Amino acid sequence: MMLGKCIGMGSSCEVYEWGGDDKVVKLFHSNTPPEAVQLEYRNCSAAWESGLPSARPFEQVIWEGRHGIIYGKIVGETFLKRIFEQLYSFREIDFSEADSDLRKFARVLNDIHKGKVLGIITEQIEHLKAIIGRPAEFTDDEISSIHAYMDHLPVKRQLCHGDTNPGNLLLRNGTPVMVDWMHASLGNPAADVAEVCVMIEYAVLSPQTPSDVIEFFEAWRKVAYNIFVDEYCKLSGVTEEEIRAWYIPAAARSIASGALSGEQIAKLVSMIRDHLCNAQN
Ligand SMILES: Nc1ncnc2c1ncn2[C@@H]1O[C@H](COP(=O)(O)OP(=O)(O)OP(=O)(O)O)[C@@H](O)[C@H]1O
Ligand SMILES: [Mg+2]
Repeated sequence: MMLGKCIGMGSSCEVYEWGGDDKVVKLFHSNTPPEAVQLEYRNCSAAWESGLPSARPFEQVIWEGRHGIIYGKIVGETFLKRIFEQLYSFREIDFSEADSDLRKFARVLNDIHKGKVLGIITEQIEHLKAIIGRPAEFTDDEISSIHAYMDHLPVKRQLCHGDTNPGNLLLRNGTPVMVDWMHASLGNPAADVAEVCVMIEYAVLSPQTPSDVIEFFEAWRKVAYNIFVDEYCKLSGVTEEEIRAWYIPAAARSIASGALSGEQIAKLVSMIRDHLCNAQN
């Protein structure tokens, strides 16, 4: 079997076409622990077998010493790419548009959260603490406060995707599909929703971005937040307040992903400190 062209990249992998045009291989970086790859394979298999909108996992492989998973290829675009296309074409978002990507994102998350899935057993809070780790930006006391805060969050046992960044939502002929199920867990779905909200509210565009695009993005944030939260809350019955209670862990795990710029990390760190301070008062 030969690797085809590279069609995607993430913080832990590259994704290549694999033997023909209907499969891909997700090749993990050599520093990814094999148990993490195994966990992704197990979680994605559980999601697929339960009929959730995911890529079909076929098998695990080793390619030139690297662990990989063969998946069915999703022909489509990531939500991330579509956001940038929208920003650079200065396309206004129609708030009432029932079919906007943001409403689809909210709907697919709600479908996942309402899904009955056997085989996903990761406990959310424990897993979040493990992936947050001990980022250098925080003192030991702050890490303890973050943990204590998380221990007081309302516990639920619903299926959560666990990594709802806009590179993990693909739109195939307009239909949403979620990839990257490594961090799926049983827990409170507000965590998934908060991760998207934190991205919308705190994303920092690269310094090369033209100033008119940055200006448009600032206007986009508010509209996008309202559409997304409106749709999710309407479908799920969860309140905006319940979602915002998960900003601290959502931001902390983004910081720990290692994929953010220094400026964005600084914004998130200061938001976490403000929220912790408010929570303690
Ligand atoms: N089954 C698939 N079909 C088509 N493209 C895919 C598929 N799986 C992944 N991709 C593409 O590859 C990219 C990286 O894959 P994935 O999100 O699984 O990697 P990751 O390293 O775990 O990501 P992250 O940075 O979120 O941790 C995706 O954003 C998507 O563009
Ligand atoms: Mg990803």
